[in-house]
Amino acid sequence: EDPTFTTSSSSQTGKAILLAAERLRSSDVPVAFPTETVYGLGADATRDEPVRNIFTIKGRPADNPLIVHIGSLKQARELLRPANASPTEQFEIPPIYKPLIDKFWPGPLTILLPLPPNSKLSPHVYATQTTVGVRMPAHPVALALALASNLPIAAPSANKSGLPSPTTAKHVAVDLYKRVELILDGGGCNVGLESTVVDGLSSPPAILRPGGVSLEQIRACEGWEGVIVHKEDGGNSGGGANGAASGAAPRAPGMKYKHYSPTCGVRLYLPNTDQPTVEMLKSTAFGSDSRVARLGVLRTRQWKELDDEQVEWLRERNVELVEDSLGTSGEEISRKLFGALRRMDDEQVVVVHIEGIEEDMEGLAVMNRLKKAASVVIRRRDV
Ligand code: TXA
Ligand code: MG
Repeated sequence: EDPTFTTSSSSQTGKAILLAAERLRSSDVPVAFPTETVYGLGADATRDEPVRNIFTIKGRPADNPLIVHIGSLKQARELLRPANASPTEQFEIPPIYKPLIDKFWPGPLTILLPLPPNSKLSPHVYATQTTVGVRMPAHPVALALALASNLPIAAPSANKSGLPSPTTAKHVAVDLYKRVELILDGGGCNVGLESTVVDGLSSPPAILRPGGVSLEQIRACEGWEGVIVHKEDGGNSGGGANGAASGAAPRAPGMKYKHYSPTCGVRLYLPNTDQPTVEMLKSTAFGSDSRVARLGVLRTRQWKELDDEQVEWLRERNVELVEDSLGTSGEEISRKLFGALRRMDDEQVVVVHIEGIEEDMEGLAVMNRLKKAASVVIRRRDV
């Protein structure tokens, strides 16, 4: 059966959210819902069976923990409550997070909270960790779902493991066709990249995954001036047989896996490298001598759109271009990135050439995702 679609523009939205909340409570099949970052695949974080199903449906490694979504600070505090605590006892979120919560919740920020003894969360949520990642999403549908269900919602991105995260309901349907029964359609995701994951329990505090809140924004908060960006072995090129990168274990287990990649090859050009010439483009369209090969080009700030003559030169050599601009602002590039990568696969591109950006502000998260997607990174030649 096809997944049920509901649109945020219709008057049915409220009903659809209530239906999804009911499914979260009673069904073992997770439901997909929009957030401002990417679409999530959600389940009641306290029940084993639906949480286990998330891993099966996505093809996700069991050691990669899930983020728990909450709709209020009260819900967040409940996650800190040990099983045997008296109902009147209050539990406080570690004070280091206060300035971040004040500024960025609801929003694209995930904080690590200590797991209480005998947590009521399903252990599949936190896997091998002693913490749980918690986020209050800003999308009205996601917030309403968390409040209407009154459940902590465990939800990874609603893509097949390894593919770019979904930023439209259609992306979810393509990846998880027949594996989910309900997708709440909230339109395109405004941020377009996943949340920033921060650990304020370690010293110094650390960013485990760059995302929708920038390093600069976090560093401006009291107590976070010395924040470090946790080093990971980024990129797929150095990865092991199954795509797991070598090197020290990353603090956010998800960061070690091959990620965000379309099926086609990705050549990422770092800033200050030259735009590839048509000859260089042609040389990457291997196997194109007898039949037409498709090449992708994704521009950002500097590259010029190819002119008719260049397009024709390539066409004569059996190369067709799928070209697009990701925009110039960091926000726009973030928003468009995953959809543009998915389009390359839809159009059966063999290799996409992508113009990278500087790694400041939104550029840090954009380049983190692109380096993971890239099969080849082109750096500036020493002169
Ligand atoms: O924007 C987002 O964060 C989206 C939306 C749906 O909220 N969710 C998302 O989830 O991106 P997922 O599962 O695709 O990525 C979660 C990341 C992984 O890298 C995971 O390893 C890390 O967060 N993570 C989750 N809980 C953790 C924990 N307790 N300790 C360390 N890392 C954790
Ligand atoms: Mg993901």
